Amino acid sequence: MKIVVADDYKELSILTAKTLASQIFLKPDSVLGLATGSTPTLVYRELIRMHEQDKLDFAHVVTFNLDEYLGIDPKNENSYHYYMQHNFFNEVNIPKDNIYIPDGQAEDIDKECKDYEMSICKHRGIDIQILGIGQNGHIGFNEPDVEFEAATHTVKLNENTIKANARFFKDQNEVPKFAISMGIKTIMNAKKILLLANGETKVDAIYHMINDGITSQVPASILQLHPDVTVLIDEAAAERLDKHKIIV
Ligand code: GLP
Repeated sequence: MKIVVADDYKELSILTAKTLASQIFLKPDSVLGLATGSTPTLVYRELIRMHEQDKLDFAHVVTFNLDEYLGIDPKNENSYHYYMQHNFFNEVNIPKDNIYIPDGQAEDIDKECKDYEMSICKHRGIDIQILGIGQNGHIGFNEPDVEFEAATHTVKLNENTIKANARFFKDQNEVPKFAISMGIKTIMNAKKILLLANGETKVDAIYHMINDGITSQVPASILQLHPDVTVLIDEAAAERLDKHKIIV
């Protein structure tokens, strides 16, 4: 696990955007695994800037999003469909047919999960996966007590996550209780992973991900076993790490 401590949120976002740009430059038909939440918003803004000013071309890129709330309308501004359209897809030239986000309104959710996995397979896997991290160490929506073997599946959100995500909703009661998420197996199959975290609310999650053993109580701890993970964090999120152990 490579750990990069950036000076601040802006620097870690620019570093991430540059890594994605280099991936696309070297392999124009790259398959990107994308995340939502407040953490990657500046990465998307920087990629849009590169598209507009540096001619970064997304014409052959394929994307798979990590997760979506169950039962939410894609037009609902708290859906991850809405987030992705408004923070990224509307501003770059990724063909519509190349964009995959789990359908939280699918009639047959099990089939939706299986089809999602099949589509990833059809595109020969994810080249680079972006991850945020929940305050409780979740990745995607894989909550503590996670089943490491699971592929894309439905998950019940835990109280901590509902509380943390309530800031985007008018009322905590509006936060959906279930979601569809890539499983740990799906995430671990990505060829390369970039996990981003900033701010003091992530300090414990980052500490446990790196220092605890591999435990289902900290879903992100499984990343210790992935051969190509870079953790990009700011000084605030790195606060509890032993600086001597940071290997870059
Ligand atoms: C949500 C998402 C995760 C995301 C996490 C952190 O629960 N399912 O993919 O990483 O929240 O979000 P934020 O970046 O807003 O802190």
